[in-house]
Amino acid sequence: MSGRHLLGVGDLGAEGIGEVLRLAETFEEVGRRPIPRVPALRGKTVVSTFFEESTRTRLSFELAAKRLSADLSTFSSASSSLKKGESLRDTVLTIEAMGVDAFVVRHACAGVPAQVAGWLSGEASVVNAGDGAHEHPTQALLDCYTLVRERRARFGAEPQRPLALAGLHVAIVGDIRHSRVARSCLLAFSALGASVTLVAPPTLLPPALEGWPVEVSHDLDALLPKCDVVYLLRLQNERMEGQFLPSPREYTATYGLTAERARLLGPSALVMHPGPVRRGVELAAEVADGPASLVTSQVASGVAVRMAVLYLLLGSGALVGA
Ligand code: NCD
Repeated sequence: MSGRHLLGVGDLGAEGIGEVLRLAETFEEVGRRPIPRVPALRGKTVVSTFFEESTRTRLSFELAAKRLSADLSTFSSASSSLKKGESLRDTVLTIEAMGVDAFVVRHACAGVPAQVAGWLSGEASVVNAGDGAHEHPTQALLDCYTLVRERRARFGAEPQRPLALAGLHVAIVGDIRHSRVARSCLLAFSALGASVTLVAPPTLLPPALEGWPVEVSHDLDALLPKCDVVYLLRLQNERMEGQFLPSPREYTATYGLTAERARLLGPSALVMHPGPVRRGVELAAEVADGPASLVTSQVASGVAVRMAVLYLLLGSGALVGA
């Protein structure tokens, strides 16, 4: 990783992604130790600044920082001076003044992590933990990691780095228009050699797709037998202004991975979802809990991958020492 910040997948390229994945493997081993902690970021301070709800991203960033022995501060916008009218910029500069090495930023507005990076006068790093419908780079990294690792464990697939996903056909299905995960994942999957098809009703596709390394389809049934991976997305109702669908039931009938539709998948196809899953809407419960599902494995990968990212941005010296 060359830059000081991780704002989007484009900051990494295939080589940078490969570097994160290799390091994450080392950190995954740390997670299995009786005391899952290394001194790699001792003396560094990470602040988690989430201005929007989160369960897995926030917890896994916080666990990652702790397992690297960093000092961790947690900012909660609901109980902060933002409520008293302080601006976002003043809040950020206040935190910076306390001496912080990394800001992990989630915000409902696209571009806020880049804005925070622009406001900082010192050397602190900014990691984008999801900004509006823009990007969620660490989700894409943990998805790449999960796919590479699971394919190796299940099929003995030898990852040919840096194109570890070469030849794979991934369908990303659902609310692409409002999804930062879709944007980051399609960039990361295609950087590693996969071909990506976006599958969604026309209303849930972004208004323009020129220049994106993807194909588009509206026919999930026709695509399923040809996919190696189906990546489902939640309907991001909190970002929808207006009516994008006749009803959730109609969406499920056409684009949901129901148990019946999942039978169209090939025997080695894998099912992914970044969570939170709305069971019975975009993904049937029995498919989410079935053998093809990587949902739990994706969550498990989050800590090791975020350790790798924090280490590459902040660390130096002994990596996994005693
Ligand atoms: C996603 C997010 O917040 O962007 N979840 C996550 O971080 N694992 C996807 C979503 O909210 O649907």
